[in-house]
Amino acid sequence: MSTSESETTGPDLTLGVATDSLADGGMLAGHVGADAVLLARRGSEFFAVGAHCTHYNGPLAEGLMVGDTVRCPWHHACFSLRTGEALHAPALSPIACWSTEVRDGKVFVRDKAAPTAHRRIAIAPRSPRRIVIVGGGAAGFAAAEMMRRQGFEGDITMLSDDEASPVDRPNLSKDYLAGSAPEEWVPLRDDGFYAEQHIDLQLKTTVSAIDAGAREVVLGDGRKVAYDRLLLATGAEPVRLPLPGMDLPHVHMLRTLRDCRAIIAQAGTARRAVVMGASFIGLEVAASLRARGIEVHVVAPDKRPMERVLGPELGDFVRGLHEEHGVVFHLQETATAIDARQVTLKGGGTLEADLVVAGVGVRPRLALAEKAGLAVDRGVTVDEFLQTSVPGIFAAGDIARWPDSHSGSAIRVEHWVVAERQGQTAALNMLDAQQKFDAVPFFWSQHYDVPINYVGHAEAWDDVAIEGDIAKRDCVLRYRRNGRVLAVASIYRDVDSLQAEVEMERQ
Ligand SMILES: Cc1cc2nc3c(=O)[nH]c(=O)nc-3n(C[C@H](O)[C@H](O)[C@H](O)COP(=O)(O)OP(=O)(O)OC[C@H]3O[C@@H](n4cnc5c(N)ncnc54)[C@H](O)[C@@H]3O)c2cc1C
Ligand code: FES
Repeated sequence: MSTSESETTGPDLTLGVATDSLADGGMLAGHVGADAVLLARRGSEFFAVGAHCTHYNGPLAEGLMVGDTVRCPWHHACFSLRTGEALHAPALSPIACWSTEVRDGKVFVRDKAAPTAHRRIAIAPRSPRRIVIVGGGAAGFAAAEMMRRQGFEGDITMLSDDEASPVDRPNLSKDYLAGSAPEEWVPLRDDGFYAEQHIDLQLKTTVSAIDAGAREVVLGDGRKVAYDRLLLATGAEPVRLPLPGMDLPHVHMLRTLRDCRAIIAQAGTARRAVVMGASFIGLEVAASLRARGIEVHVVAPDKRPMERVLGPELGDFVRGLHEEHGVVFHLQETATAIDARQVTLKGGGTLEADLVVAGVGVRPRLALAEKAGLAVDRGVTVDEFLQTSVPGIFAAGDIARWPDSHSGSAIRVEHWVVAERQGQTAALNMLDAQQKFDAVPFFWSQHYDVPINYVGHAEAWDDVAIEGDIAKRDCVLRYRRNGRVLAVASIYRDVDSLQAEVEMERQ
């Protein structure tokens, strides 16, 4: 993955491309001057847009055209080919558009068009004026951004008990932790954005209660903030193992930018780390610490890493991949105590460690919802419009359990893209749009140079159909139950992953 500046490749599109060289649904990467431009054909229409995704610069020509949209191969952002708008997260900013002209059997790319604001909803004069968002993470940020994008001019107050403005949390276990991404990549937007957009972002501000009758939230310092619509996007917090030594200064968990900075500071002098937990965050941390040259031991009760979500075949592959990079696994093992120099294992052994990171899962932050009497069932229960059991209060992200039309069950997931997309849908619905949340869940995970993409949701399956070769890092795994594909994991098969998403959307 690269977030470097766009490179220009392919033909100069101002000189024209033979129309019959581009099939219906075809895409071609070229350039206009120094700008990388994607030329796409739908029927007799031609579109020219920026060739790189505004999330992490993914090459859109290697993605998938669906109707008059293009989806990014890397993390499934979706852009309108007509307006350039980032229709679906994780990209939030638009791509540029150019006009095209067909003449003498050729299509020419002409002028760069001024960005057009596209409104998906009509905001009624009597729509809510005061929006309060509890949470400055993926869902909360995406909601605020979407409301302003739609032209909402009322008050938006975003309350976050974090000290940092909304950050690109997935980066905290990947490039930023590995030292390959500078800190300026971490904030989702610079501080000026909130002032410009009139979003009242209040950091280090804890919401301690909701008075649903009075339509107010109560802050930790006793202040009250009134709302017409409330979005709960309180996310999740890392599970803290009840072990002696968890309070020691070299023992860390990872959720916030502050947590990540503390690990990076420790990594400056650490020689040997123990990572507790062999799931996504634990193993991404292991990979990032290896990139910093630190010896890494992973301790986990599981038989295989990530087996519960990805199955035994990918679990074995992930283990082998980390071992190739020098990680030592202590599986079917747990830690019982930590002291300043070592971690004691249940099996009786000890591991030296001057840095310990616990990544053993998260717990949704439900206290506010529970205290306010909202319906809660292993997550805040929401309907298809992401509204909780109390009208006017919505929930999105890691806390929300929603009726997923694709799996037919009420599910709660901890995925960045789902949290952002739910924040976007909740935003529209807080403005009375009545849009169902029906996105197919998607997540990605990155280990060294190997990205794993996953669409759908499978908690249990009968079998896994494997296409391609896992060892060669070129594979698609389909998790099936009663003959139906519930989820698809893939490595370097981005178009297959996008096609699986589209098929699931159509089911
Ligand atoms: C290190 C790391 C790496 C990850 N990598 C990936 C990945 O690669 N792919 C993927 O799909 N997912 C990944 N995830 C998961 C993803 O980040 C989460 O699913 C996503 O952030 C959830 O968004 P959210 O808005 O629900 O919660 P969060 O982003 O956690 O935001 C919650 C916000 O609520 C605030 N808050 C909570 N309670 C209160 C309160 N009472 N008062 C005020 N504020 C409050 C918090 O301070 C925070 O600002 C990763 C997570 C971590 C920690
Ligand atoms: S780079 Fe396009 S979605 Fe991430």
